[in-house]
Amino acid sequence: MTDTSVLVTGGAGYIGSHTCVELLNAGYRVTVIDNLSNSSKRSLERVEQITGKAVEFIEADILDAELLVGLMKKNAFGGVIHFAGLKAVGESAQHPLKYYDNNVTGSLRLLQAMQETGHKRLIFSSSATVYGLPKALPLTEDHQTNPINPYGRTKLVVEDMLRDLMASDPAWSVAILRYFNPVGAHKSGLIGEDPNDTPNNLMPYVSQVAVGRREKLTVHGDDFETPDGTGVRDYIHVVDLARGHVRALEALFKRTGCLTLNLGTGRGYSVMEMREAFEKASGRDVPFVVGPRRAGDVATSYADCTRSAEELNWRAQHTIEEMCADTWRWQSMNKTGFD
Ligand code: NAD
Ligand code: WQD
Repeated sequence: MTDTSVLVTGGAGYIGSHTCVELLNAGYRVTVIDNLSNSSKRSLERVEQITGKAVEFIEADILDAELLVGLMKKNAFGGVIHFAGLKAVGESAQHPLKYYDNNVTGSLRLLQAMQETGHKRLIFSSSATVYGLPKALPLTEDHQTNPINPYGRTKLVVEDMLRDLMASDPAWSVAILRYFNPVGAHKSGLIGEDPNDTPNNLMPYVSQVAVGRREKLTVHGDDFETPDGTGVRDYIHVVDLARGHVRALEALFKRTGCLTLNLGTGRGYSVMEMREAFEKASGRDVPFVVGPRRAGDVATSYADCTRSAEELNWRAQHTIEEMCADTWRWQSMNKTGFD
């Protein structure tokens, strides 16, 4: 058991709250900084309920440099896990400056505060989006990076910033984790994904249809070059993803330098397979219509997870059935999310 303290930016959000649970269960102390722009404080109350442990919560923006420096002068964090960011691909095309400001300037402020206060251990939430159009599958970490939307470019800028920083100071210890498609929820049904508006992502949309909040799913295209014509993605249970962060932190305690790792399952499922698995898990119908392709969508994307298995001794464990059952438990216990 450890008693190390970890700073989690964006810890009230979907992946952050699940990671707080795993950190607390592993014996870490957790401080969260979140401006609640896309989350609710209740998620952290639920984290405390699940774990029986307290989370220190600071409602603040990572753009607030003075606050960050003050916080890091007062506390010696064993590591920083940086989830805070905006993540809607479509919105990033409409409001690119908002995305560059929040995701890039926010990360820059965080890194400056870390450097000023001697904190040099960081895990950064990157995304499979940095790869852009797959040239070869499965996607390895060495695949070229060529994001095709502003959101993805903000992630790549921060990755580059981290690589430059590490080249200048080998004492830094950084894990860049590229997530594929996080889905599912904690087994308790107490925390899960709670989108503010109409969900952009497949599984929150499917679960809102199943629970009766939306009429039907629109399948974005059924003429892709895939077995059933619908898009194929590498869906990963959020608890597996959260555990990957704890493993990455443990790895960073033993080394310096940069680890860039895919976190996925290594296998893809189509929109139709996910829809059907969800119907089975929930016992509810998920009616659908087929619409046109969504701009920027690729036919197939899935990860090569060899490197994360080797470096972290980590593998995703949860099945598609568990991803759907856990999403449904969360959705049916919390029809309107945390509100
Ligand atoms: P989320 O929106 O649920 O969580 C992000 C959290 O950051 C929210 O609680 C939000 O209030 C907070 N936040 C945003 N800007 C902030 C700021 N300036 N200061 C303080 N807090 C701020 O999203 P998530 O799905 O949990 O994603 C977490 C991270 O993982 C993000 O960086 C996202 O880009 C990345 N990511 C997500 C996915 C996905 O599909 N969910 C995939 C790949 C990468
Ligand atoms: C999955 C599949 C859609 C909604 C996005 C971001 C990526 C990452 C994860 C942050 C696709 C289809 C979806 C719907 C549908 N996020 N779909 N009807 O596009 O793989 O990745 O989230 O980093 O950056 O781009 O995920 O869940 O939106 O879509 O048919 O209502 O479901 O076309 O094939 P995507 P998604």
